[in-house]
Amino acid sequence: MNRTAAIGTCAWPAHLRPGALRWARPSAHYAATVAFYRDAVGLPVVGEFTASFGEDGTIFGLPDTGIQMEIVRAHPASAGPDGFDQLVLYLNDMEAVTTATAPLRKQGFTPDPAPHGYWAANGAVVFRDPDGRGVVFAPWVYGRDADPVDGGIGITDAGADGEPPVHVDWHDGDRAALRSLFEEAEDSRAQLDGYIDTGRVLVARRGSDAVGHLQLVPTGDAVELKNMAVVPHLRGRGIGRLLVGAAVDACAAGGMSRIVVATAAADTGNLRFYQRCGFRFASVEHDAFTPATGYSDPTVIDGIPLLDRVWLSRELRSPVGPSRAVVRDDGTQQTSSIPPSTAVDHLGGGATAHPF
Ligand SMILES: CC(C)(COP(=O)(O)OP(=O)(O)OC[C@H]1O[C@@H](n2cnc3c(N)ncnc32)[C@H](O)[C@@H]1OP(=O)(O)O)[C@@H](O)C(=O)NCCC(=O)NCCS
Repeated sequence: MNRTAAIGTCAWPAHLRPGALRWARPSAHYAATVAFYRDAVGLPVVGEFTASFGEDGTIFGLPDTGIQMEIVRAHPASAGPDGFDQLVLYLNDMEAVTTATAPLRKQGFTPDPAPHGYWAANGAVVFRDPDGRGVVFAPWVYGRDADPVDGGIGITDAGADGEPPVHVDWHDGDRAALRSLFEEAEDSRAQLDGYIDTGRVLVARRGSDAVGHLQLVPTGDAVELKNMAVVPHLRGRGIGRLLVGAAVDACAAGGMSRIVVATAAADTGNLRFYQRCGFRFASVEHDAFTPATGYSDPTVIDGIPLLDRVWLSRELRSPVGPSRAVVRDDGTQQTSSIPPSTAVDHLGGGATAHPF
């Protein structure tokens, strides 16, 4: 990765010393957007106007008039927002993110299940305002802290109970060390023996303990998420989503355009998990789990016979890694990203088109 950030406090240049800073945005859903930032995000309103030079608007302080965001009722012909139209709130840590997003969740807003890979890999949570613009709650302070992703591929808040945080990185050691995790997701020993050593594996570690894994195997025009699991006592804490986010980020940076995954139709929990991670249903394979394919007969999950396999797919937004403009001390801008070649090398495939 190639990123720079000016660390520490910067001053305005001598010729440019504004007493306040404001940006304005048109909103096609004015009342709902004002309510979103006022009542759900919790920003204070520092000014309002109606029919002022033909415009209606509300000004929010961040938190006072020194930094302001103005929402103006859009005219009918206004263009909609772009995917990178975002307000980013850099917070101290994941606990601060959880606290900051509690009112949103309480009011029924849910995070974007498929945020940009950069935000997912850094553990940020993204909500959408009624116009579709993102509000990013990031668990680190840009300019003060390094991106969490630079401590590994991802980081999560699984350390909130005083335990070390969870880091995700590539597993380059013996796969046998992770076999018990693979077995959490594969009932057929024969099948597992056939694929455990294929592709590449991301591992989530808390300290030195492996607490989750995700295997990526190339298939034709896509990458298959072949096997993944989180240790039972740490499930439901975001580690699975973190692993998927890291996989999405790595595959997009490696130039891949699609990730596919297959799971049992009988396992409604997994179907929910993958959809919450941004996957969409693609197809159903009938009678995929039979003694002939290595599965004992009959197996029942939650009262549903294990018979059919469901394929899900997630398109990757960008063939290159996340890119951001960074302002340096001298005022010049640098666009930083994970170049495909770096990502390909990182994935261990050398400088070939295929990262696996
Ligand atoms: C599937 C698995 C990897 C998910 O990991 P996890 O760390 O528990 O998942 P997360 O905490 O990141 O959950 C992300 C979301 O999916 C949901 N989810 C995860 N597992 C779920 C389940 N079994 N049932 C319903 N929802 C589930 C979470 O509630 C969360 O939803 P939210 O966004 O509404 O809060 C984990 O449950 C597991 O190891 N299962 C056993 C192995 C397995 O079946 N692997 C998949 C084989 S295809």
